[in-house]
Amino acid sequence: MTSQFLRRYSMYNMITLLLLLVPVSVVLLSLLKRRRKRKGNEPPLIKGWIPWIGCGLDFRRNALRFLQNLQKKHGSIFTVAMGGRCFTFITDARDYSSITKISHKLSFKKAVGDVSGRVFHLKNHSDLPRGREIFSEFLHGTGLADLDSTSARIMQETITKKISIDWTQTGLLQLCHEILFPSVFRTLFDQDGDCDDAAMSQAMRDFRHFDNMFVGMALGTASAKLEAAERLWNTLNKLSELGRGHDMIKRRDEVLRQKSYESRIGKEALSILWASLSNSVTTLFWALHFVLRDPSALRDIRNEIDTVRANKCMDDSSSGDFTMKELGQMRLLDCAIKETMRLTSSSMSARQILDDVEFYAPSEKKIIRLRKDDVLLMPYQLTHSDPEIYENPAEFRHDRFLTEAGASKDFFKKCVKVHGYLKPFGDGPSLCPGRHWAQLMIKRAFIAMLENFDIRLSDVSISTPTIDRFGFGILHPNVDENVLLRTNRTDSYCT
Ligand code: HEM
Repeated sequence: MTSQFLRRYSMYNMITLLLLLVPVSVVLLSLLKRRRKRKGNEPPLIKGWIPWIGCGLDFRRNALRFLQNLQKKHGSIFTVAMGGRCFTFITDARDYSSITKISHKLSFKKAVGDVSGRVFHLKNHSDLPRGREIFSEFLHGTGLADLDSTSARIMQETITKKISIDWTQTGLLQLCHEILFPSVFRTLFDQDGDCDDAAMSQAMRDFRHFDNMFVGMALGTASAKLEAAERLWNTLNKLSELGRGHDMIKRRDEVLRQKSYESRIGKEALSILWASLSNSVTTLFWALHFVLRDPSALRDIRNEIDTVRANKCMDDSSSGDFTMKELGQMRLLDCAIKETMRLTSSSMSARQILDDVEFYAPSEKKIIRLRKDDVLLMPYQLTHSDPEIYENPAEFRHDRFLTEAGASKDFFKKCVKVHGYLKPFGDGPSLCPGRHWAQLMIKRAFIAMLENFDIRLSDVSISTPTIDRFGFGILHPNVDENVLLRTNRTDSYCT
């Protein structure tokens, strides 16, 4: 009886299993049959073995190592199937200028549209300009000088509030947020200081939460419905209605109102706040982390700041903030910030390929064909960590980009000069419009930290960059470093 039951039971199981397996195998086989094949001059195609997912899991595990391995095996240009799409990676700096030449067949807006739609809740509207003309008016020349002087004044006010003669313990990343967040927020959106300290702290907490969730929201692994984001939209919306923003923001809001897109104002504002702050704060954090832990870098940069300060004091004993020209004289500081970004930036420029197109790739010495609807990605970290371009690429060298005479250094690969050896701000038509302002703010905040405070980093929690934000700008630290600080001056910079 029992054996009869078991026989019948296992027969049912077999039938159920077969019923399940047949359709699954048919789907898998048809997916495998439909999987694309490499044609003619197209780059090598790496499909991975899991249908649809392709190489997605390997990429998420450690993107840099995965791409470096593929580069060694297949050369500098290859196509990878992930998540039902194909991505062509351009990994050699010698090819960037060839890509710029075919930019009419590529679209940045289409490539990033899905991400900004999900994260910022901003649908692509074809009648809305990207705003690059407005950015270039206010982020270059006289517009930049005006923006910089406002943010420098607000930053100085923010730092003055932090000055304390007692040792205070905090996190270095937290401190960088506390200095840059109010400076950027008030400069762009709240010039009259309508937000009091409590409102500013809440906005900063909301921003940090939004920023921490950013990658998950962008990849679709976390919900993009955040109370923090809604609070920020509402605050930014109200400030826009009151007309408290910088002229650059007012001009952008005007365009939105003319096109009857008022409901986008707070969301657009959050996207500009995020673009302005997210990478600037982490760059400042890593610059302080590297320099404060490197005695020779700290000594050289301090000397440089002190020299420019001494000359300034001879000219005008009452002056505080450095001018843009004086900041330009601090070549070592500039170099240390560039070196910081070389080590910690994981930015990738993305372009949707609008039509089949060919270009000559100097790195491979041949014509490469790109396929319509694929996405082109330029992961600059592969260039930034290329040992053929940079000696000991994992090391922080504060003077790496300068010759002994203090001039800008050239970089070579296989004896050929490399032009795009450093790209933390992207490239081509999507090159970051805020790059000059960002570097001015980071330098000002860095100098203010050294000039105003005794700072001691703790050796208990030393940060390392996390790899899970690959492709989304400057990498975040795994832990916030403990820092002790107290003021080292009470009055004027000039004694
Ligand atoms: C250290 C700080 C910063 C870094 C590392 C950085 C980096 C970048 C990168 C990599 C891109 C994308 C470029 C590409 O796809 O090729 C970008 C775009 C952008 N950045 Fe920055 N950025 C910084 C600061 C700023 C600041 C202060 C602003 C202020 C306005 C800003 C505004 C923008 C905007 C609006 C875009 C989008 C450009 C477009 O749509 O064409 N960024 N940034």
